Amino acid sequence: MSKEVIKEEITNPKATIKRLWNYLRQDRLGIIIVIIMVVLSTIATVLGPILTLLAVDKFILSGQLNSLFILLLLLGIVYFLSSLFNYLSGFIMVSISEKALFNIRRDLFNHLEKLSLSFFDKNKRGDLMSRFTNDITIISDTLSDSVIQVINSILILIGVTIAMFVINPVLAFTTILTVPLFTIFVLLISKKTRYYYKSRQQVLGNLNAYAEERISGIQVVKGYGKEQESIDNFKVHNVNLKDMSIKAQLYSSLVMPINMAITNLGNILIIAVGAGMTLKGYATVGSILAFLSYSKMFRRPINQLATIYSSIQSSLAGAERIFDIIDYPIEVKDVKRPLKMDEIKGEVEFINVNFGYTKEKLILKNINLKVNPGQNIALVGPTGAGKTTIINLLSRFYDLDSGVITIDGKDISKVRKTDLRKKIGIVLQDTHLFKGTVLDNVKYSKMDATLEEVIEACKKAQVHSFIRRLPEGYYSHVEEEGSNFSQGQRQLIAIARAILADHEILILDEATSNVDTRTEVAIQRGMKKLMKGKTSFIIAHRLSTIKNADQIIVIVDGEIIEKGKHKTLINKKGFYYDLYNSQFDN
Ligand SMILES: Nc1ncnc2c1ncn2[C@@H]1O[C@H](COP(=O)(O)OP(=O)(O)OP(=O)(O)O)[C@@H](O)[C@H]1O
Ligand SMILES: [Mg+2]
Repeated sequence: MSKEVIKEEITNPKATIKRLWNYLRQDRLGIIIVIIMVVLSTIATVLGPILTLLAVDKFILSGQLNSLFILLLLLGIVYFLSSLFNYLSGFIMVSISEKALFNIRRDLFNHLEKLSLSFFDKNKRGDLMSRFTNDITIISDTLSDSVIQVINSILILIGVTIAMFVINPVLAFTTILTVPLFTIFVLLISKKTRYYYKSRQQVLGNLNAYAEERISGIQVVKGYGKEQESIDNFKVHNVNLKDMSIKAQLYSSLVMPINMAITNLGNILIIAVGAGMTLKGYATVGSILAFLSYSKMFRRPINQLATIYSSIQSSLAGAERIFDIIDYPIEVKDVKRPLKMDEIKGEVEFINVNFGYTKEKLILKNINLKVNPGQNIALVGPTGAGKTTIINLLSRFYDLDSGVITIDGKDISKVRKTDLRKKIGIVLQDTHLFKGTVLDNVKYSKMDATLEEVIEACKKAQVHSFIRRLPEGYYSHVEEEGSNFSQGQRQLIAIARAILADHEILILDEATSNVDTRTEVAIQRGMKKLMKGKTSFIIAHRLSTIKNADQIIVIVDGEIIEKGKHKTLINKKGFYYDLYNSQFDN
């Protein structure tokens, strides 16, 4: 494992901290209470040894048992308050940080919903998901624990130092003597531990990714008889993980024993120097006891800060990854004063449209296309020619590189996206169903539809009798991504969805590609009724389905090479003619 891979990429820690702080401080009162609690808890902690000192020197050695009793009571109260404040601050901090996380998750998700499709082309789904799972979790841990720990540790270091020097400067110096040794050791160990834990995370990530890929692709693995290869590869990841875990824990288990050794060494020094000074009258037995406590108290925050440091680092990195997404510009934007698009006739025009998904490669070249209201347009052409891309542009999922697309003469980039899409019903190549009932899924396009309307739409899409035969009919359960339905069934439900919405413009991208020929004919009959008077775009590889189109557009390699009615194109004996004949040769 190279160090490069596990390097933390924090580019701007200051800005990230400031931003996290902005989320936290929305609960201003809470933050102020937490800080007061932490200060009080620290004061109580630092006060403890001083009271012990008084108890020993003033009351035990001189035999004033009454006063001693009162003092012990006081000590008990101080320790109790210290714990109480500690608990309360942690408690309030959890609520503050959960509110902050709530807002971060909200901002992240809301922005993701607004980002254009080109963002999702560039970023893997798994990566985006891990923003919600891994990154949010790391930040959550740090916000709720580390903030308090950092403040607390620093305050204790300051408080203890002051207390020690006030009580006895020489002993204070003796106590601090072992601190550099201790600090160096803590830093070294924690650096190593951090490295191995991070490597382990990386290795664990690889192992999970591998397992996930092999499990979701199990059918292909089995189909090609690659089970043993999978098992062997998994073993490599597994061995790596085991080795890394052992190393990580080996190092972190070193902390305790060495810590204790150095602490004990420090204690011996304090007792030796303290005893010498007490004998000469420069110190007291009580102060030796107090310093033994302080020496312990002094080390804890150093240890804590070293541990927190790494968790803060990784949560800053996580926060940056989240903020990067929140800051990602929304590419397909609404204009400031959008044009109205209420009633439309459905005239569509593409004028000199050029477009590429990336800057490097132009996909559509100089597309010119005019569709009259109510016309039925078929887009045909080889795989990868750019048919779906044309549809993507009409729905304004992407912005053009140059040219204009108009509906009823209005530039669609000047219309609000939501208004535009209300006019367009789409059945896509790969249909997506959501977890819920069949009814919910059909109604997705028109939430206030009645059951009767839904049934009507499903009848038109030829899917009613299938749904009726399901165990719970329209209330049957749809799993995530519609995995318990066949592709053809999903497509029919999507067609019903589009029929229900009854938009002025209809787009069917290979909508009937996954159904059998008989169903296809039946759907076509339904579609014909549906498309009557509506501008519709149909993409189909099976040319039999588009023979009756008002206009057939042939696209090859991002360019329109032929245009016209079926008969005209056949007579022309060009690309379409060849394509058509190749499908009906036998
Ligand atoms: N999201 C995307 N990002 C980058 N390139 C893309 C993207 N979608 C499609 N392309 C590329 O654009 C070209 C046209 O794709 P498009 O999906 O429009 O083809 P198509 O004509 O619909 O093909 P098919 O008949 O197979 O559906 C292809 O070369 C494809 O690689
Ligand atoms: Mg396509």
